Amino acid sequence: MSDNKTDIKWNKTYETGIEEIDEQHHILVNTLKSANELLTQEYSLENLQNITKDLLSYALYHFESEEELMQRYNYEEAYPKEYQNHMKQHRDFSGKVVEIRNALKAGNLIEKDELIEFLIHWLINHINHTDKKLGSFLQTQMSH
Ligand SMILES: [Fe+2]
Repeated sequence: MSDNKTDIKWNKTYETGIEEIDEQHHILVNTLKSANELLTQEYSLENLQNITKDLLSYALYHFESEEELMQRYNYEEAYPKEYQNHMKQHRDFSGKVVEIRNALKAGNLIEKDELIEFLIHWLINHINHTDKKLGSFLQTQMSH
């Protein structure tokens, strides 16, 4: 049985109101759920490498989708502070996953719970405090 901190499932309260973003978040949530299950079954360097590689490439794709929407609707001009903060969070996250991957390469394996808790905490926090702001901005723009 998994404990709360490493357990995640999609919840309607995570919705930002923007279908494209919500679908990708849903995929990210499922990715973290599978990663936790896989590492619970078999904690190995190979699994850690595959999980972080797939996660990084999907996260980058997802960030690009959001950033493309920001550009299309001029988020930066409307909310420069929120825009800067949002971009920084995306960059910091990618940097952190790259750091974890470099450590793996050097033989320093991150603990399962440390990895999963970091990922879940980051994603939920980012969705609730950052993506939702973007979501309401986009909803307003799209309704015009
Ligand atoms: Fe985001």
